[in-house]
Amino acid sequence: MSDVVAADAAHLWHPFTRQRDHDPARMVASGDGAWVTDLDGRRLLDGFSGLWSVNLGYGRADIVAAIHRQLETLPSASLFGQGHPTAARLAERIAALSPGGLNRVFLSLQGAQAVETAMKLARLYWRARGRTDKTIIVTRDRAYHGTAYGGTSLQGIAANRLPFEPTLPGVRRIGAPHPYRCRSCAGPRPASCTLACADELETLVEREGRDRIAAVIVEPVMGSGGVIPPPDGYLRRLRELCDRHEVLLVADEVMTGLGRTGRWFAVDHFGVVPDVLLMAKGLTGGYMPLAATVTTDAVYEAVTGRDTAGAEFPTGNTWDGHPPSCAAALATLDALENERLVERVAELAPLFAARLRRLEGRPGVGDVRTFGLIGGVELVKDVATGEPYPPETGAAARFAGHCRRLGLIVRPLADGGTVALAPPFVVSEAELTHLGDVLAEAHTATMEELEG
Ligand SMILES: Cc1ncc(COP(=O)(O)O)c(C=O)c1O
Repeated sequence: MSDVVAADAAHLWHPFTRQRDHDPARMVASGDGAWVTDLDGRRLLDGFSGLWSVNLGYGRADIVAAIHRQLETLPSASLFGQGHPTAARLAERIAALSPGGLNRVFLSLQGAQAVETAMKLARLYWRARGRTDKTIIVTRDRAYHGTAYGGTSLQGIAANRLPFEPTLPGVRRIGAPHPYRCRSCAGPRPASCTLACADELETLVEREGRDRIAAVIVEPVMGSGGVIPPPDGYLRRLRELCDRHEVLLVADEVMTGLGRTGRWFAVDHFGVVPDVLLMAKGLTGGYMPLAATVTTDAVYEAVTGRDTAGAEFPTGNTWDGHPPSCAAALATLDALENERLVERVAELAPLFAARLRRLEGRPGVGDVRTFGLIGGVELVKDVATGEPYPPETGAAARFAGHCRRLGLIVRPLADGGTVALAPPFVVSEAELTHLGDVLAEAHTATMEELEG
């Protein structure tokens, strides 16, 4: 036991972790259902599904068997200039599930690659149509689109971008909706809300010129930037603006896709069809790395048409469409459909919301936000004004630490005040009640520490 802790302490460099403060004994060793077990045999409820990814829970024999069968049949195969049956079947399934006419599927291996692919696709699309100046990609405050250099350049979370500057040229930023912090639309969208945050896109287009803007990328429900569902009408307004100004709309559903919101895709809640749709994480139930960038015939034809500069899409990675990953995805989609798990998320969503909302009105609880099985609890220094806790207080990290001590995994977000939750779709009602109880107890302990 202690030798693995020593090995970790001596050699393992953890992502997004304050390495010097990290306790190397904090490990998970196994999992079943919605629970993981640590090195000491203590069980923890995984209220964050790994990294919002292990959507079907741990110990799924069906997914493991599918991966195993594929490994025995064909463990590895590149998609460069050839195919394999599992990738072909998966592409067909993803096309059938995707909204509108989204039916051309580019497979890669992680969310960040889906983002890179979308950025390249947007630029190549306009280039192929002779609009060579249309290269600017628009992103939003608080956005999280992975940590490759393209995605890093798109980061709206400054702490994830600034240390790596200079980042990519040709990126512009607009605001993002935040009903809790937007003075004009706190609470349900009031009549006074004009969706000014969406209209920032139009202002930007007017300033830069419509011949220069290639695409805007959005998380339909913002995740790592604070768990922020958009106000009514926001995404539809963006879609209208994109149509009016010839801008591609890219929906980054790496986290929200494949049922996490109670529909197959978050955009389905808003009646919006993007030009490019990204998915990863839950695509394989978190069992294998895999991502997809899905687009329309129109984009595909423009890029691959024989007489265009982009007849070949000159990008790709060794593991794109890795057969065991595709097999895991097919088994995951089977399980989601056969066990009606997307519907189950929709059914559980009100109970999940109610369990989190029990914290409302407690000291320091500024806002509770949920959408499907995605939740966020934001602690603030001053509930009346919404003034955040100073970063050095580590409010969200303390809250998450107490949750973990009490047997619940949640994730503190980069804003320093919000903890995020995303339990597996197989979580039971009793487990959600337990989750709510632990949150309440952890909240009390956190506030004692913060306020004495
Ligand atoms: C919206 C969004 N996009 C992209 C990514 C990057 O995905 P990956 O970590 O698989 O590269 C994430 C990861 O959390 C995400 O939430």
